[in-house]
Amino acid sequence: MTKRVAILISGGGSNMVSLVDEMTGDHPARPVLVLSNRADAGGLEKAKARGIPTAVVDHRPFGSDRPAFEDALNHVLDQARPDILCLAGFMRVLTEGFVTRWQGKMLNIHPSLLPKYKGLHTHQRAIDAGDAEAGCSVHEVTAELDGGQVLGQVRVPIAADDTADSLAAKVLVQEHRLYPLILRRFAEGVTTRIDLT
Ligand code: GRF
Repeated sequence: MTKRVAILISGGGSNMVSLVDEMTGDHPARPVLVLSNRADAGGLEKAKARGIPTAVVDHRPFGSDRPAFEDALNHVLDQARPDILCLAGFMRVLTEGFVTRWQGKMLNIHPSLLPKYKGLHTHQRAIDAGDAEAGCSVHEVTAELDGGQVLGQVRVPIAADDTADSLAAKVLVQEHRLYPLILRRFAEGVTTRIDLT
């Protein structure tokens, strides 16, 4: 049974594009929705150009009422009936209620070697700490921010002259390799960890 995938974005959507472009042929999943909390997210146009249905649920009118925002998200999601949610640069912290609703069906890509550097500014923190390498991780989403089981990682050496931006660009290339592979495995029911070289 082909798995239905909804992808949640807030920005440019390069990870969304890498996921969508991989879901062809014998891939066990297909994209059914790209959902954003920002109407100006560049990824929405990229999704439309690929014929993927899109929707926007703006978080701002809900202010600090996250459950109400998430009810609106779920209302849109329920119409698309996804089996899997992929967070791809979705910049809203989700409550335990939402995470429990989608427990075991939700993935996220994070630009660090989890459990190191949960949260924001991961590349600058790795550089400031004098780390030799950075990277990215795909993990299952739990109520603990960036805390779920890691399903895959890629390591990226940090060069002496790297800035947060140059490092982010190198890591993003690896994100586009890792996330589609982990989604394929996840859609096939495989949750054992894989580290790419
Ligand atoms: C990526 O680096 C991702 O790891 C992080 O946000 C960025 C989103 O980039 N969570 P894009 O919108 O997929 O291009």
